[in-house]
Amino acid sequence: MITFQRLNAGDVERLRQIRLLALKDAPDAFSTTFQDAFVWPRDSWVRQLQKLPTFVAVVDGADSGMVRGALHSEKINEAYLLSLWVAPHARGQGVGQGLINAVIDWMRSEGCQRLVLDVGEHNAGVIALYQRMGFKPTGITKPMPPPREHILEFEMALEL
Ligand SMILES: CC(C)(COP(=O)(O)OP(=O)(O)OC[C@H]1O[C@@H](n2cnc3c(N)ncnc32)[C@H](O)[C@@H]1OP(=O)(O)O)[C@@H](O)C(=O)NCCC(=O)NCCS
Repeated sequence: MITFQRLNAGDVERLRQIRLLALKDAPDAFSTTFQDAFVWPRDSWVRQLQKLPTFVAVVDGADSGMVRGALHSEKINEAYLLSLWVAPHARGQGVGQGLINAVIDWMRSEGCQRLVLDVGEHNAGVIALYQRMGFKPTGITKPMPPPREHILEFEMALEL
């Protein structure tokens, strides 16, 4: 069974565990490195949970995927989709799509009309998924921050 849950302020250890799994499994998909995140103090995870709405996919009782949202600091109609990851054993059955939909529902509830994300150009599978869900390239590209500056990211946006 697959369910989607929004983490609450008390779920600090759940966030830390699944985010570290994601960073270890798919290092080239994220700007943050596993090595950095592994030594972050608890306060850092608490702050992330306070600031970023965080959704987890629970598959057969185990946290198996995550995604986060963020409001744009200046554009009131815009939000970001961040940190999308599904555990390898849970892929290919709609979990990723369900997580993206959780962020879309959240941004709608916040009154946002535009959802933006960055994706590495090598990541053809997830690009296909985003396109199928209506995201389009905006034409903005940039290298990832070090140590992955060799990877070019491009921006995609979903307009509601
Ligand atoms: C991208 C990711 C979240 C997709 O999760 P998922 O649960 O497998 O996604 P879904 O089952 O909802 O959708 C799968 C569909 O997306 C596409 N897709 C996703 N990942 C793919 C991959 N690695 N290779 C090929 N196609 C892929 C396919 O179009 C597939 O379509 P299908 O259902 O017809 O087979 C997962 O592969 C992942 O965590 N990857 C590593 C982290 C990552 O790249 N995150 C994105 C950062 S921008």
